[in-house]
Amino acid sequence: MKQLIPTLLIIIVIMSCVDKKKTRNNSVATVKMSQSDSFKKWWKEGVLYQIYPQSFNDSNGDGFGDFRGVIEKLDYLESLGITMVWMNPFFESPLVDNGYDVSNYKAIHPRYGTMEDFQEMMDSMQSRGIKFVLDVVVNHSSNEHEWFKQACSSRDNKYYDYYHWWPAEKGKPPHRHSLFDPEGGWDYVEANNSYYLHTFAEAQPDLNWENPKVRQEVYDIMKFWAKKGVDGFRMDAFQFVSKDTTFPQFPAGHEKNFAKWYGMGPHLHDYLKEMYKEVIEPYDVFAVSEGSGSTFQDAHDLVDADRNELQMAYHFDYVTLSRTPEGYTLADFKEVFTKWDKEFAEEGWLAIFLSNHDNSRLVNRFGNPSPEFRRVSAQMLNTFLMSMRGTTYTYYGDELGMTNIDMPTIEEYVDVSALGEYGMAKKRGEDMEEFMRTLNYNSRENGRTPMQWDDSKNAGFTTGIPWKRVNDNYKDINVAAQDKDLNSVLNHFRKMVKLRKDHEILVYGAYELLDKTNNETYCFTRSFEDKKVLVLLNFTDHDSNVSLPIVNTIGDLLINNYNEFMVNGETVILKPYQAVICNLKK
Ligand code: GLC
Repeated sequence: MKQLIPTLLIIIVIMSCVDKKKTRNNSVATVKMSQSDSFKKWWKEGVLYQIYPQSFNDSNGDGFGDFRGVIEKLDYLESLGITMVWMNPFFESPLVDNGYDVSNYKAIHPRYGTMEDFQEMMDSMQSRGIKFVLDVVVNHSSNEHEWFKQACSSRDNKYYDYYHWWPAEKGKPPHRHSLFDPEGGWDYVEANNSYYLHTFAEAQPDLNWENPKVRQEVYDIMKFWAKKGVDGFRMDAFQFVSKDTTFPQFPAGHEKNFAKWYGMGPHLHDYLKEMYKEVIEPYDVFAVSEGSGSTFQDAHDLVDADRNELQMAYHFDYVTLSRTPEGYTLADFKEVFTKWDKEFAEEGWLAIFLSNHDNSRLVNRFGNPSPEFRRVSAQMLNTFLMSMRGTTYTYYGDELGMTNIDMPTIEEYVDVSALGEYGMAKKRGEDMEEFMRTLNYNSRENGRTPMQWDDSKNAGFTTGIPWKRVNDNYKDINVAAQDKDLNSVLNHFRKMVKLRKDHEILVYGAYELLDKTNNETYCFTRSFEDKKVLVLLNFTDHDSNVSLPIVNTIGDLLINNYNEFMVNGETVILKPYQAVICNLKK
């Protein structure tokens, strides 16, 4: 549908971001939300931006991003309009898992700067209206944490009970799967003749939350940072903290359903209620859990307001979509987001995201990274994200449409997860060529390349040697170029953030899916009080029609990633990856 067909009445509406006041017309049904003011919270309305600190901006030429590098980019952060920053771990650590292995929770790894730098960075963000969310990694510590070193020395050591042990005289421990270690979840320590448990890498021993002293240590760590002024906590791998310490034998193959067997242990809710009383409530902070169990009920039990536990969680259902180069179907995509929205329409709150440091880039997974469609598909995905209910999480670089890098051979990989998965696949006798093809597509290293600031050497990220290879496409995809281009992914992102902040309907409005079975377009409405907006998204690289009676009531356009918008009666003709939000007339 490249040319205009004369018999069609094509209306070309030039995009207008002005939300004009409408006169009331009772013929349009509206959904009235029952949400009271107490339901409204700053962290629900927040637009969160995730910074992977080693990859954001290097101020001292050592090849790693750092706090002063972030301080240099505060104007940029403010220009995005974001209102929250979650920063991945920057604590003292041997960096086996890039900082998710903490050896001192109250100290900064020197490569990021000092505690004074941290304070200055956070204070400056806050003075610009940006709240700060700290990553709390307390399902496990590093094996170089003093607690673990002492625990290894003897069973009599007071830190022995800080971890989970299986005394060797009881024989081999029951099999536990490790997410990163092909050899499994237990490792032997000669000095105390016991096996310790590690859900992740061997260097990440699980802390024993059943021990009240461990919990007090955690609350103490959280209070330490709350006193410095952090506004929220992202609780890493949190669904795994409570365990059945009798370590029963699980059925063969259980690891395929990891969250079900290893998550939501018997005392998790008691611990969360305790944490709420000790930290969340008195310090007036919020906490978001990575993971939400394996049922809707699990998720509700974590985040519903009357539970007094956590305030938000993110689920993993979307992560299982598009894990291989074969991609995903839009029907599955819609189903995931629709069912979660429905479940949380009345009670509870979720985070919503399409990528983060544990995934490859959003454009590669859900859009189209080709030079022709990268821009529009990234804009479309950002429009989707910012028009759904839930606190939106944007991973650094996605506001530019940054893409995967090509890493076809295992030698280039440094990530403990990629290397672990490689070892496991080899052990299972998988086709390693096929494995590498998938890894190249979905490895989280794709999402950790240096931020692309400009077209100078190393994309302006560092004057030294970057810790990770800069994506070759930085000359085309970078902040400086997109800043100047009104049609860029970056400027669209800024508009979309503003639109969300200016329109409560996009935060709190009821969601209704209109085209469940259409595998090309995604259309839904959001309704709040007496207003209703329509979101129209084309997920394909060709024109696609949407025929719905609601099209008759289309009013002002709020945002459009094209200069044109074609409507013919009850049909909208969406251009490739076109994304439009419009008011509906009453
Ligand atoms: C979480 C983090 C991930 C890390 C793992 C172990 O899933 O997001 O990056 O490797 O926990 O801490």
